[in-house]
Amino acid sequence: MSRAVAIEDLSVVIKGKEVLRKIHFSLEEGVFLGIVGPNGGGKTTLIRTILGLVRATSGSVSVFGRNPESLLTGDNVFGYLPQHQNIDPNFPATALDIALMGRYRAAGLLRWPGKQDREKALQALSVMGAEDLKDAQYSQLSGGQQQRISIARALAGDPRMLILDEPSTGIDVVGQEDFYHLLKGLQKKMNLTILMVSHDIGTVTTYVDEIACLNINLYYHGNPLGALNEKVLTSLYGKNVDVLMHTDVCDKCERLRK
Ligand SMILES: Nc1ncnc2c1ncn2[C@@H]1O[C@H](COP(=O)(O)OP(=O)(O)O)[C@@H](O)[C@H]1O
Ligand SMILES: [Mg+2]
Repeated sequence: MSRAVAIEDLSVVIKGKEVLRKIHFSLEEGVFLGIVGPNGGGKTTLIRTILGLVRATSGSVSVFGRNPESLLTGDNVFGYLPQHQNIDPNFPATALDIALMGRYRAAGLLRWPGKQDREKALQALSVMGAEDLKDAQYSQLSGGQQQRISIARALAGDPRMLILDEPSTGIDVVGQEDFYHLLKGLQKKMNLTILMVSHDIGTVTTYVDEIACLNINLYYHGNPLGALNEKVLTSLYGKNVDVLMHTDVCDKCERLRK
C-alpha cells in the first residue's frame, strides 16, 4: 500500500484567524475516511489544503508523495465534489453534459469532447446507477439523482482520490444509506481513496474505515467506533453534545461502554 496523504504539523491561518492547528495524520491508499466536526471546525479548509487550493501557513501536506499544488496540473489525481456546487439549476444541460464536464481536464477546455470522453462519462454514470438518466435535464432531477450525477462528473476523470464535501445534505436518511453503500462499493471496485466530510457522525461511522474528528485541532483519528465517546464528542460539540448526538450514536456509545 502506498501513502495517499501525509500531513505533518499543519497550521492554517486565514485573515489572522487560526483555522487549523498543528494537524498531524496520514492515510493509506484505498482507505475510506470520514471527516466530522462542527460548522466552522475547518473541515472544508483541510480538504482544500489537500487539494492544493489553500496553502499551509506552517507544516506540510503531501499527496501520493507530492506537493498538492504540483498536482493541480498534469495527471488527474482528484475527483472533487465541493460543498457548494456552482451548477446553475436553470442551466440547460443533460446529465451526460454534466458528467462530461469531468473530462475537461483530460480533454482540455478548448477541445470538443471525443468518443473516449463520452465513453468515460457514460461509464461514470453507469457506475453511479444513473445511465438511464443520461438524456434527462439535470435541473429536473431530484436532489438524490443530481448528487449521483455530480459524483459521476467527479469520477469521469478517472481520479485516484475522491473528495466529497458534505455530499448528502438535503437527501433523506434512506437515500443517504444507499448512497454510502454505493460509495463503499466504489472504493472496493476502483481501489479509490475516499475522503468524505459529513455532518452525520452516526451513519458515517458504519461505512468508513477511519474517522477524523476536527474542530480546529484534530481530536481523534482512527477506528470509527473509538470516536463515539463522550470525551471526543464533547471536544467537538461542547456542552451541546447530548442535543447533537443522534439516537443511534447514543446506542453505539452504550454498546461500547458495556
Ligand atoms: N476564505 C476565507 N475567508 C475568511 N474566513 C475563512 C475562509 N475560509 C475559511 N474561513 C474561516 O475558517 C473557519 C473554518 O471554515 P471551514 O473550513 O469552512 O469549516 P467547516 O467546513 O468545518 O464548516 C471558519 O471560521 C471560516 O469562517
Ligand atoms: Mg465546510
